[in-house]
Amino acid sequence: MPMFSRRRFLTSSAALGGAFALGAGVAARAGAAPDPQILAAQFAEARIAADGVTQRVMTYGLGEAAHAGMPPVLRMRKGERYRARLVNRLDEPTTVHWHGLRIDNAMDGVPEMTQPYVYPGDRFDYTFTPPDAGTFWYHPHCNTLTQMGRGLTGVIVVENPDDPAFNAEVVLNLRDWRLGAGGGFIDPFKPRDAARGGTYGTVRTANWQREPAYDVPAGGIVRVRIAATDVTRIYTLGLEGAAAAVIALDGNPVEAPFPLDRLDVGPGQRVDLALRMPESEGACATLGNFRGSAPWTIARFRAVGASLKRDLRDVAPLAANPVAEADLSTATRIAIDLTATAEHRATPSICGSLGYTFWAINKVPWPGDTADPVAPLEELKLGRSYVLDVANRTPHAHPIHLHGLSFRIIASNKRSFLPPPTDTILLLPDEQAQLALVADNPGDWVIHCHIIEHQKTGMTAYLRVA
Ligand code: C2O
Ligand code: CU
Repeated sequence: MPMFSRRRFLTSSAALGGAFALGAGVAARAGAAPDPQILAAQFAEARIAADGVTQRVMTYGLGEAAHAGMPPVLRMRKGERYRARLVNRLDEPTTVHWHGLRIDNAMDGVPEMTQPYVYPGDRFDYTFTPPDAGTFWYHPHCNTLTQMGRGLTGVIVVENPDDPAFNAEVVLNLRDWRLGAGGGFIDPFKPRDAARGGTYGTVRTANWQREPAYDVPAGGIVRVRIAATDVTRIYTLGLEGAAAAVIALDGNPVEAPFPLDRLDVGPGQRVDLALRMPESEGACATLGNFRGSAPWTIARFRAVGASLKRDLRDVAPLAANPVAEADLSTATRIAIDLTATAEHRATPSICGSLGYTFWAINKVPWPGDTADPVAPLEELKLGRSYVLDVANRTPHAHPIHLHGLSFRIIASNKRSFLPPPTDTILLLPDEQAQLALVADNPGDWVIHCHIIEHQKTGMTAYLRVA
């Protein structure tokens, strides 16, 4: 196989403004570093809309210098210690949640439940060892509709030194923005939409760009790591102009890679693709969203150089992550019903509220982050197996995310393909699914819908593992 020049493609992708091709997103490897990596939440301005610069965007930067542009791709290594110091340069409290990483509860980033608020000017040190390799992401767990809506969503790559070799890597952070004329932020949501599927953004981006293009080697195999970090949008991904295999979902390798046709990806979910680029220089593969009646382009990949003539079948499988298999013969069942309720006033919260609650889990609408939360849904015994019987009793899809534990979908009345273990299930309207897990990580673990308006208007609860 001809060796592909990393520098050449870095140069060409930088020329396009796509500095994140080839995993060049600011590489941040802690490992031997004596000091934690500074992760500074801060304001910036950014050119996102076609017709103006957006002020008071929120982003993360590495180190002390001011940072414009999207939050860096954080690179960690499976089984290696990672340390980050969150420095809050915003004007409101914040925290960081490491979505999908099965780490210590004290590092999980949920204010009141796992850590104190990090006030403006304050800092908080996160230290953990990611047990799983794959594509994950990070975001605040405080005033999230505003903080995530304004930019605080970044991708995490946990590398496994044994991963197969690809000719290039592109990381895509997919999200929308609610911007009005001139690029200014508009109201983050509409109450009517919060009571339905959630409020959509007005500008759609990948890596904070509208329809970015990446130069990658012709005939090569590109690892595309996609994270859906929007607060609302469910994507139906599809590819035109090339073939791709789905190799991992939500950070976990699929047992048998399968061709990408149309794939639904909800807020919080991730997909890893092995993309086989066309042979001829200049040919393009287009990643699109095929949900709804008018498909649109998310990003393009352009073939560069002489064909590397790779074959998708050459890609060695990714190694499975060490997620324990539940023992179904002893598992205890826990019913989790998702419903709409009458509207109630929300408890005022340091981390913001939308003013009311509407959704509920097991009839209890989550009141918001408080020092005195409602009781856990259930107390799980450390090391035991459980099956969550989740029922979506609403006509809307809900991406349900569980912190700290991975689960396996073992049955569903709405799907035949059962994915590898995950942290987020896109529960379809009226779907009933059984989620099996081993309660092997002690602590209070939040479970919530990742359509943030639903999360913030009641569709949140937690499981206690002790
Ligand atoms: Cu990615 Cu509690 O969330
Ligand atoms: Cu929801």
